Order: sequence, then C-alpha cells, then structure tokens
Amino acid sequence: TSNQMWGGRFAAGPDAIMEAINASIGFDKRLAAQDIAGSRAHAAMLAATGIVKASDAEAMREGLLTVLSEIEAGEFEFSAALEDIHMNVEARLKTLIGDAAGRLHTGRSRNDQVATDFRLWVRDQLDAGEEQLLALLRALLVQAEAGADWVMPGFTHLQTAQPVTWGHHMMAYVEMFGRDLSRLRDARARMNESPLGAAALAGTGFPIDREMTAEALGFDRPMANSLDAVSDRDFALEFLSVASISAMHLSRFAEELVIWSSAQFRFVTLSDRFSTGSSIMPQKKNPDAAELIRAKIGRIFGANVALMTVMKGLPLAYSKDMQEDKEQVFDAADNWLLSLAAMTGMVGDMSANRASLEAAASSGFSTATDLADWLVREAGLPFRDAHHVTGTLVALAEKKGCDLPDLSLSDMQGVHESITEGVFDVLGVHNSVASRTSYGGTAPAQVRAQIARWKERLG
Ligand code: ARG
Repeated sequence: TSNQMWGGRFAAGPDAIMEAINASIGFDKRLAAQDIAGSRAHAAMLAATGIVKASDAEAMREGLLTVLSEIEAGEFEFSAALEDIHMNVEARLKTLIGDAAGRLHTGRSRNDQVATDFRLWVRDQLDAGEEQLLALLRALLVQAEAGADWVMPGFTHLQTAQPVTWGHHMMAYVEMFGRDLSRLRDARARMNESPLGAAALAGTGFPIDREMTAEALGFDRPMANSLDAVSDRDFALEFLSVASISAMHLSRFAEELVIWSSAQFRFVTLSDRFSTGSSIMPQKKNPDAAELIRAKIGRIFGANVALMTVMKGLPLAYSKDMQEDKEQVFDAADNWLLSLAAMTGMVGDMSANRASLEAAASSGFSTATDLADWLVREAGLPFRDAHHVTGTLVALAEKKGCDLPDLSLSDMQGVHESITEGVFDVLGVHNSVASRTSYGGTAPAQVRAQIARWKERLG
C-alpha cells in the first residue's frame, strides 16, 4: 500500500531498501519536542488568522500535548514507514483527534518544518554550551587566582623558554574559552530567525502570520527569503565551527594536563574522580578524561567537514541530501558538551604543585633572556651582542653542570668584563616574572588585573 501521507499518486509502496535509506526517524526522533513546539505555534497562528476554526486549533493543541507526553513517557511507537518525526507525530495526531489533524499542515511543508525544528534544537545546544563555557571559565579563574604568582616554566617548542606564572597560564585559557563564548553568542544572534512559513520553498498563498510564529518560538524575526529559509544549514555549520574551535582549545589544554600530570613533570595532581587505574600496573593513575577530551575534536571537527561536504554543490532549494545534516550535529553536540563538563570537573578538582612548578621554572636556563636584557640595560651592549654573551654563559653553565645563578661572578666576568654583582638580581625566577609588567605580560600584578577584569565581566 502506498504512503498514507503522500501516496495519492503512487500505486505501490516503497521497496524495503528504499524505506531503509529514506527513513530518518531512527535519529530525528530527537527533534520531537521542537517539532511539537513548532506545530503548536503553527496551529495557534492558523486559528488567529482564521485559516482554521478555533475548535480545530484547540483539538490540535491538546492532541499535540498528548503526543508529547507519550513520547516523553517512552510510550510512543515510532514507525519507519512514516519516515520521519514530522509524519510520525502527525499520524498519531490523526488517530487522536481525527480530521482536524489533516488541517495542521495548511500553509506549511516538511521543508520549513524540519528547518525550524533543527534551528530550535541547535539553539538549545548553543544555550547549553554557553552555560558550560561559563562554568569552565569560572573554574579556570579560581585556579588562576590561587596561583597568580606561582612560578612555572613557560615553553616554546616544549623546551623551557622563560618563567611565567601559573595564573598567567590559566588566564591564557580563559582568553581562549572566552573567545569561544563570544563566537557562540555571535552565532546564536545570527541564527535566531524563523524559517516557519517559508513552506516548501516559495511561501504560501494562505494569509499566515510569520511574525506570530517567530515570536512564539523565541525567534527574533521570520527569515526574509523562503528559498533560503528551507535550504541553508549555515546555522548548523556555525555551531559546528564554534564547537570545533572550542574542542580544539579543549584538546590543547587536555594535552597539557596529560603531560603535566606525568611523574616526569608533576606540575598537577588530578583528582581520583577524574582519573582511572590500570588492570595490570597497580601504581597507575591515568588521565583518561583528559585523553578522551584530547581526542573528541576528531569527531567534532569530522562533523563539521561532513556537513560542509553534504551542503557543497546543492542547488536551491531543499534536497533530501539535507536529511544527512542531523546525526553528525547530534553527535558533535553531545561530545562537545560532555568534553566541556569533564574539563570543568577536572579543572575544579586538580591541584597545582607549587614546589614542582617552581623547581622546573628555575632549571633549563629559563632566565637567560633576563640576563641578556640586563646586559643591554646595565652594560649598554646591543641586544645581539648581549644574546651572544649570554649564550656563551649558558654553554659554560652547561659544561659545569649547573644553572645560570650558580655561576660565580668571576666565571661571568671571564666571559664579559662589565658584568657586576647586580646581575644576580635578575637571574631568579621570581624577579624575572615580576619584571614582565608590560600589558598582557606575566607579572603577577598584570595577571591579577586580568583576573579582576574577567570576574567583573562574568559577574
Ligand atoms: N526528514 C526530512 C529531513 O530531515 C524532512 C524534510 C522532508 N522533506 C521532503 N520534501 N522530503 O530533511
């Protein structure tokens, strides 16, 4: 038998394989709540504009609420023959309220319906992501404040570069996740327009009120072009871009936590709550959550590439290709939100090991740049010459198996006669960080100012 929703011109029903490739209900049932919200807004509008009788709209409203509670209770029987969430809901509505159900689809198509549902769903994920990012930022600020003046090595090429403060390093991530938050808010503001009422592609001759449905669904306005409304998925791509960039930031931080929690570094201790053991090696405490966060970018960015590839080359307006927009976004959203929550938990629980950080900061000639700067300032050397003199001193210390502050004054004067006792003041890591007072620099005073600015911003 042919399809009960669109089978009028068909003599035979679909092949089983056709049904298998065509049905999206297996995944788009996740849009049930959004679908019913959209239908309720549409039904109320149809009555307000006189397109359907008030009594029919009331039956639709009650029926839709019943369908929603059946789905929420897990009592709803989804059918692949009915293809997708839209037709599953409508078919059930028909058994509940009879003919009035058939009037719900007046002035509407599944094309604007699915575009509306998916926008609402993505908007919910953006809102959830905003909450998660805020929680992560707050957890990072607590870490930054606790160790605003704790000294640790700063790295380039993962080689010791210059001392920085723990607070400064934490605040670097606050800036990154802060930009993710701002990107998210931009994306949300841009995507918050309603496709509903665009109908199949060309709009409708029924006197619908798109402002009314837009407002009922929390959209700022209806989308201005019906072809665009049903056929672009850039809002989902922007969501995936926001999530991908943020997952990339999460991945970098996760990598640092993996390194920092190793016995060789001991910069941080992760809590038992966010670590796992080994079934063979009794001593092990593994940073699995950090490793999984490090890896999640793979599927999140993969979703971004997949949807971009689905959309490229599609002619206007709707094509069934666009049904392939959902699963990847669902998966990316789930994993991004989970990663954010796991990172927030780890950051909240972890403790930085101040002594290890400081010991590491003091090794590896981390204050060589301070020495070169001293030669420029106090001995009047051009920076290039100061760089060379300092390099010679580093080589000497390396040969002696000591660090720069351990060289004697006469050792130093053997390399350059104008070096005086005062040089030792700049060779200590605390003096080094305290001196970097330029805006955005690692000096504790700068870091505390940035912490204060962010606390005010986050309220
Ligand atoms: N399940 C479809 C999707 O997800 C809904 C829209 C179907 N529209 C159509 N003209 N076949 O894209």
